[in-house]
Amino acid sequence: EKGGYEHFMLKEIYEQPQAIKDTYRGRLRADDGIIKMAGMEDHMEKFVHADRILIAACGTSWHAGLVAEYIFEDLTRTPVEVEYASEFRYRNPVITEKDVLIVISQSGETADTLAAIKLAREKGAFVFGVCNVVGSSIARESHAGAYTHAGPEIGVASTKAFTTQITVLTLMALKLAAAKGTISRTELQRYLTEMEAVPDKVEQCLQINEHVKYIASLYQEAPNCLYLGRGYNFPVALEGALKLKEISYIHAEGYPAAEMKHGPIALIDEQMPVVVIATRYGHYEKVVSNIQEIKSRKGKIIAVVMEGDTTVSEIADHVIEVPEITETLSPLITTIPLQLLSYHIAVMRGCNVDQPRNLAKSVTVE
Ligand code: F6R
Repeated sequence: EKGGYEHFMLKEIYEQPQAIKDTYRGRLRADDGIIKMAGMEDHMEKFVHADRILIAACGTSWHAGLVAEYIFEDLTRTPVEVEYASEFRYRNPVITEKDVLIVISQSGETADTLAAIKLAREKGAFVFGVCNVVGSSIARESHAGAYTHAGPEIGVASTKAFTTQITVLTLMALKLAAAKGTISRTELQRYLTEMEAVPDKVEQCLQINEHVKYIASLYQEAPNCLYLGRGYNFPVALEGALKLKEISYIHAEGYPAAEMKHGPIALIDEQMPVVVIATRYGHYEKVVSNIQEIKSRKGKIIAVVMEGDTTVSEIADHVIEVPEITETLSPLITTIPLQLLSYHIAVMRGCNVDQPRNLAKSVTVE
């Protein structure tokens, strides 16, 4: 059942090239720039005329929502707000009939996310569900939706659900951008072609598993770990930290890199590993200077960089190279080595990676 893998989590990490392909297959036609998503097409007016897109989710799915915020605002120019479902449901939020609420849930059974849907429906908003489990409560309670088609996820720590959620949300953003005319046809085709290259690039990331395992062996005893990223890769830093804490029980925090100087930098000493996502786009120079600040305080840098990087490679203690990809799609790639790092550290520490203590696969009580 684990297909020769030692744990479901590892199997599911390795399934990602196929899972991502399954998610876009039948929806994406790169050559003629078409994205087919019936759930969106039937309600395109709602999306096009939405004043705002609200996103509500929990845990890893909330991180996928944060990535989506960057993608939707960038491509569609529709304002986006991402909410923890548990906070959203209880704080008397402003919701109108001109809002679209996107809920994201692997299991489709998360109690707080389900409650967010009920609240939004009562206020007349249109609710779109992004779920993995077919026929789940959240899928049924939403007005429309799109499945991630990741296949069953057994490991409690979410891996392929996350990358396939990002895949669906990216397709949605591109479809909306095309409908609103906020990206050109040429740009759309370029993104779709890049999307089709993602599975092979994820495969390439999986091939550096042994190198990531070696880095894991050096830091398996660390009591704390920081994860930093900027822009599209800030939510990836949050997700990397969540993955490490939930399966290895090492205390980890994710931060936007620039926030370091507003407090967390006080934690840096020679005992502190800092995982930095330093892709060549976006805010590369700024991330380089964030790395220098950490190095000058003797922190240990594990940097995720793009192939051929020289600047960060010179100052980092360890470098994990991932294939070149357009910034918008980079979270699908940079996430992979962070999943592997957490996995190996947890195994080395003798933790039960598939069923971490105190956690359940779906949280059906609030
Ligand atoms: C983290 C994890 C949890 C879930 C969260 C939401 O690895 O698995 O944080 O992401 O409980 O679950 P779903 O997506 O089923 O609503």
